[in-house]
Parts: sequence; structure tokens; C-alpha cells
Amino acid sequence: MAARVLCAQAFTRPRVSRTLTTFLRLYTTPAPTPSAIPVLGKTYPTDAYTNITPAIVSKVSRQLHLQDGHPICTLRALVEDHFADFAHLRSVSPLVTPYQNFDSLSFPEDHPGRSKTDSYYLNQDMMLRTHTSAHEVEVFSEGKERWLLTADVYRRDEIDASHYPVFHQMEGAKIVSSDEAGVQAMEEDSRRLEHELSQSNIIIEDVPHVSGTNPAQPEHDPRHSEIMAKNLKLSLNSLMYKLFAGVAGATKEDPLRVRWIEAYFPFTSPSFEVEVFFRGKWLEILGCGVVLQSTLDRANVANEMGWAFGLGLERIAMILYSIPDIRLFWSEDPRFISQFKAGDITTFKPYSKYPESYRDVSFWKPQEGLHENDVYDVVRDIAGDLVEDVKMIDQFTHPKTGRESMAFRVTYRSMDRSLVNDEVNALQEQVIERLREHLRVEIR
Ligand code: DAH
Repeated sequence: MAARVLCAQAFTRPRVSRTLTTFLRLYTTPAPTPSAIPVLGKTYPTDAYTNITPAIVSKVSRQLHLQDGHPICTLRALVEDHFADFAHLRSVSPLVTPYQNFDSLSFPEDHPGRSKTDSYYLNQDMMLRTHTSAHEVEVFSEGKERWLLTADVYRRDEIDASHYPVFHQMEGAKIVSSDEAGVQAMEEDSRRLEHELSQSNIIIEDVPHVSGTNPAQPEHDPRHSEIMAKNLKLSLNSLMYKLFAGVAGATKEDPLRVRWIEAYFPFTSPSFEVEVFFRGKWLEILGCGVVLQSTLDRANVANEMGWAFGLGLERIAMILYSIPDIRLFWSEDPRFISQFKAGDITTFKPYSKYPESYRDVSFWKPQEGLHENDVYDVVRDIAGDLVEDVKMIDQFTHPKTGRESMAFRVTYRSMDRSLVNDEVNALQEQVIERLREHLRVEIR
């Protein structure tokens, strides 16, 4: 059956210039998975787990959090400034073992995050970290008791203005000896923070530090657990005030509003999420909790206890700088980066938005099944940052044959220039070819 490109603007068969086609072929034709992949100067043998794509490999060396003046870098420095007496780690390789990413944090064997559809694997023994928590055991085992670690993290995900397969997180942690001296030090710090916050224009919706549904760990004295959770909350309320007081209200009539929610993470108990009220909506900002004792045992600091949090930087930077599309962080257009000065938070001035162009593709799923994330990675790998959005627009099962059909709309737009129709058609042809050859779909 012939490939059909449903085209929004013109319903003609794409006529593609020869040079462009040749270029795209050379650049994007699906090579069978090579036997080894070089990443950050080392070569890794591939296997049935390998699903990392060249588009992703090209991101591992960018290090936006270290690029002077970049919003992600300024935000990182701001948080570090707030936790001034913490160790500040910034250059830890994104390549980790599944043990580091999951087992060291007591993730169950069947946790969905482990699957190839959710995470990027170089092979079954090596992956790209999906969160900065992957480094907790190694950092605690270096004897660090107060630390922040900033890094790029990778997750297979949908494509739109606020989802990108690479983003940045900051992990923060503080532990003390679990004897009276350590616990008292925490309490003293909490008194200082409480005093500071009492003079700030902030309203906090709280939940109990410890409860039946969000329990202290059996290894912990429940009173100690309360004290850790309280210090965690005060430390983060104070950080939220520092980050958001200037933008999310915080006038006399309109104070900053922070809300605490009970949560679940495999590596903390009790666990919480923090949300901030911004422009009429509650925004999820971070996850945190009292560190699971088994994590600290693995790090050989069994006689300590404390808290940890994980903060996503892009979402916060989008708010603080009014950046409308997550792809902009990766733009190498001087009109983006030249707007910003290290240390200053300023409002992003949009430069002209070039027109979008969308194409639809529909197909029968292969017998062996297909995950949406596989489609997103094909598009991302071929079109890179020229793809703005991919949405599943239709799905049905044929009543007679039982075959499943899916349709996707791919929206192309460049941040830096106008795309010509031929170019978009050529990209879409490549997408279709790759869907056929790699994912074995039958184009409808
Ligand atoms: N790693 C979690 C995530 O990416 C966030 C997180 C939750 C980090 C709780 C923590 C924590 O340190 O204690 O969703």
C-alpha cells in the first residue's frame, strides 16, 4: 500500500528537491542499530535493550546548567546561593547503571520507569539517568551530609511545549547523625527558618509531617521523623519564597501560596509534593521526603537520617522568565541567549514566531504492538527541534479484523526560520519511512 501523507496545506504528493532528499537520506536514513555506540568518549556495545537515539546522544554534552547566562544556569546558581553551606555538585556523568537509577533507591522490580518505553538504555547494563536521585547513594557514601547536585536527566515522553526528553533537575539532601545531637541541630535550624518565614508574606497549606497514610519508617523514632520532615518543609518553603515571591503575588493582598501534598516515592517515607499557586493554577514544583534508611545503609551511613528533594528546573525557569516553549532552552539562536545576563532574571522577549506546518499520518499497528513513545522518538530523531508537537489524534480497532489503527498529527515549526513546504514534506516522508522500517507499521 502506498504511503499517504495527509497534508494540511496542500494535498499534493510531495515534490522534494534532490539535494534536500539526499541530505535527509544521508543524515537520517535508519541505520540498523550499530554494534556499539560512542557516548561521552566511551564506546558501549548495543543489545536488545538499546533504544538511545542520535538526537538524544547529541544532548549529553550540552550542559545548559553550566552555560553562563543561560536561564537554567542562573536558576541553578540561585538555588545554590540559597543553600550556601551545601556542597554544590554539577558535573556528574548522565550514564548510570539501572542499579544506581532504581535498585539503590529500592524501586520495585516491576516499576514502570524501568521499561524501555520510559527510559533510554545504551544496553541492559547502562542507561541515561531518569532523575538526579540516581546519585544519592554515591554522594552520601562520600560522606557528604548537605549537598546539591544539578544535572541533565532523560525520559522518553510525549512532545509538546512543556515536554522534552531531556531536562534538568537539582537534587538536594541534608542528613545528620540520628542521635540527640543531630536531631537537636535540625531543630535549631528549624527555629531559625521559622523565624525568617514568619516575617515573609507567604501562606502555606500544610499536611501532617507524619500520618497513617504517610508514615515514619519502622527504623525511625517517629519524633525524629517529624523533626526531619518539619525541617524539610521549612527549608523548601524558604526556597519557594526566594524563587517565587517576586513573580507569584507576594503583595500584602496577594501573598505567595505554597501547598504541601502527601505523595509516594519508592525511596522516601514520609513523602511530599510541593505546589505553588501561579496565575490561577497550582503548579507542581518538586518531590521530597525523609530518605529511606535502606538508601543510607547502602551508602554506609546507617547511623544518620535526613531529607532529600528533587526539583525540575525547566518548569520553574519557564515561569520566572516567561519562556513559552521548552525547546527554546536548547536554541543556539543568538536572539535567545543574548537576551540573558548571568544572575539576572528577566522577561523573555519573543522574537518572531515562524509559521507552523502540520502533517498527519495514520497506520495499522504491527502485530507485536507499539508504544506511543516509540513514535515520538522516531519523529524527534528525524526532525530534532523542528518538531513542536506530536499528538495522537485518532485510535480505533477495526470491528472485523480486530486490527488497531493509530493516527498522529506532527506539528513542525522552527524557532529560528520559516520552514518551506518541501522541507516539511521531506521530513514527514522520512518519518513515515522510519515508522515502516523500524516500527513495522502499515501506513494507511
Ligand atoms: N526523583 C524524583 C523525581 O524525579 C523526585 C524526588 C522525590 C527526589 C523525592 C527526591 C525525593 O530526592 O526525596 O520525580
